[in-house]
Amino acid sequence: MYQYTDFDRHFIRARAAQHRDQLERNLAGTLSDDDFRPLRLQNGWYIQRYAPMLRVAVPYGELSSAQMRVLARIAREYDHPNKEVFERAIGAQAAWGTTHLPVGFGHFSTRQNVQFNWIPMAKSADVMDLLASVDMHGIQTSGNCIRNITTDERAGVAADEIADPRPFAEILRQWSTLHPEFAFLPRKFKIAITGATEDRAATRWHDVGLHLVRSSEGELGFKVFVGGGMGRTPVISTLIREFLPWAQIMNYLEALVRVYNRWGRRDNLYKARIKILVKAQGQRYIDEVEAEYRDVVEVDGAPHTISQAELDRVSACFVPPALAQQAQGAIKPIVIAADRQVAYQRWLQQNVAAHKNPGLRAVTLSYKRLGQAPGDADADQLDTAADLADAFSAGELRVTHDQNLLLPWVRAEDLPALWVEATHAGLARSNVRLLTDMIACPGGDFCALANARSIPIAAAITERYQDMDELHDLGEIDLHISGCINSCGHHHSGHIGILGVDKDGKEWYQVSVGGSDGSALSGEATPGKIVGPAFGALEVPGVVEALLDTYRVYRHSGETFVDCIQRIGLDTFKAAANAARLNEKHEELHMLPKHANFAKDAQEA
Ligand code: HEM
Ligand code: SF4
Repeated sequence: MYQYTDFDRHFIRARAAQHRDQLERNLAGTLSDDDFRPLRLQNGWYIQRYAPMLRVAVPYGELSSAQMRVLARIAREYDHPNKEVFERAIGAQAAWGTTHLPVGFGHFSTRQNVQFNWIPMAKSADVMDLLASVDMHGIQTSGNCIRNITTDERAGVAADEIADPRPFAEILRQWSTLHPEFAFLPRKFKIAITGATEDRAATRWHDVGLHLVRSSEGELGFKVFVGGGMGRTPVISTLIREFLPWAQIMNYLEALVRVYNRWGRRDNLYKARIKILVKAQGQRYIDEVEAEYRDVVEVDGAPHTISQAELDRVSACFVPPALAQQAQGAIKPIVIAADRQVAYQRWLQQNVAAHKNPGLRAVTLSYKRLGQAPGDADADQLDTAADLADAFSAGELRVTHDQNLLLPWVRAEDLPALWVEATHAGLARSNVRLLTDMIACPGGDFCALANARSIPIAAAITERYQDMDELHDLGEIDLHISGCINSCGHHHSGHIGILGVDKDGKEWYQVSVGGSDGSALSGEATPGKIVGPAFGALEVPGVVEALLDTYRVYRHSGETFVDCIQRIGLDTFKAAANAARLNEKHEELHMLPKHANFAKDAQEA
């Protein structure tokens, strides 16, 4: 795991102290709420529908067990609303029949961050001190800057890896953190890097996607993609550099972000992302970047060239744990009842991935289960993850794009013991990459921008698909749910995508099919296509079922859901989805009104 330097530590602690001072002044009435707002947002503190939301950065998704225990402590001791907030939240949700609130959780996001939904602002300084004690913070988790740089969750351990992206992500983290030129970009800016042949980081959906590749001469470099994004205009990024030598990546990014900073639209919030600039300008944007890059190299003297010594220094901070050298390849046979064998074999198939080191495996802990929102983990589950990491993975964990946790250093011989322990903890469901391993945003339960709730839709579909035989028969299916067009739940890239839409203030859902995040089984990254007018909340599980039943009827042996749609065409699926509308009249539920004050903060998210 990367070890922060004293510089980083000092900086994070100083930031926490600065926040305490700002908070105290705000509570004493000498720093107004309006003046406090941009300051707290810079540390990841947003006011959401009912309470402050804290977003904590997890650089390239790597967490130590010590960090995980602090997150568990925050969930346990701080993720609780005060009485007034609790009563307001329960009161507001009464129309939905809500009788209890999911408090005491951490929430893993698709961009490898962790969010908390209920921490009272008065306690925020204590929480920041706790985070700083394990080198964590919320810097650049909001606003129009370069956000947390994400990577493949299996970075550094993946069997299909060309080169480890983490040292580059770390070097870019240092470059982009508090970079004054990029502190006020036209809009937020998200970079994802992969060093593997399979894209597990949805790179083509990012503002910048970097792929580590080798040239025909064997030289290491980057393929550079720009201008991907979701929102109301889904765009797959454009390839702007087929090959850039790795040493030049910061000089090139400096040029690329500079051109965006200069030409990106600041007049219209919805047209401000780099995807709009790249789409509008096409080749002209690419030419501008190349010209700026030449200037950075020839006029400025290529100041950000990464030397071999610097790459070696940073790479050395990612030393694999000692067990990596000793591990044996064999998986010990396991003595269990025959009916449990099926569960164990399925877990090996879905949750256990090959590793660079043949004696090791990368194991995903599934956080997707009945009664819990996708990506949520309560304090005990977070502590259990830390315990499992200590016992089986050299004390290290990763946050995955699909909102699960991964143990990257598991000895093959320890798999049976891990399976037993993870099963006891309820984290060994073999649904990884299957239908119920869905992505969902917080939606209307928490988010001030939502048109509809995501969590009850996720829950209803999870409830319908509890039969593991059925799930495995359906195979790998990405179901993605967003509560509004901001697309935090990545509905555009779902094989099945569900989007909350507003009709007369009521909750409705648009369903699309055939999208892809660009990972191996989904094919090229692409947005899904809408199957028809929006459905009511009660209809959605039936619509999903109709789509999957259609697949089961028409699929060829071994054919994936997306391939089947491509072969037989959208119309058959459209017809099935629309036939699943309920005939009897039913009233859709009202969404809570969007409140201008909350929405202002949410726009920064
Ligand atoms: C309640 C908390 C949240 C709020 C208020 C919020 C708000 C927003 C907004 C306003 C955008 C659009 C920005 C733009 O297009 O310029 C956005 C994008 C995004 N959010 Fe969230 N978000 C929240 C939680 C989350 C969570 C939990 C996740 C992960 C599960 C997430 C993942 C994303 C991603 C990946 C995008 C980028 C989509 C794109 O490419 O355009 N967000 N969010
Ligand atoms: S997609 Fe919309 S509802 Fe969901 S978290 Fe993002 S902004 Fe909120």
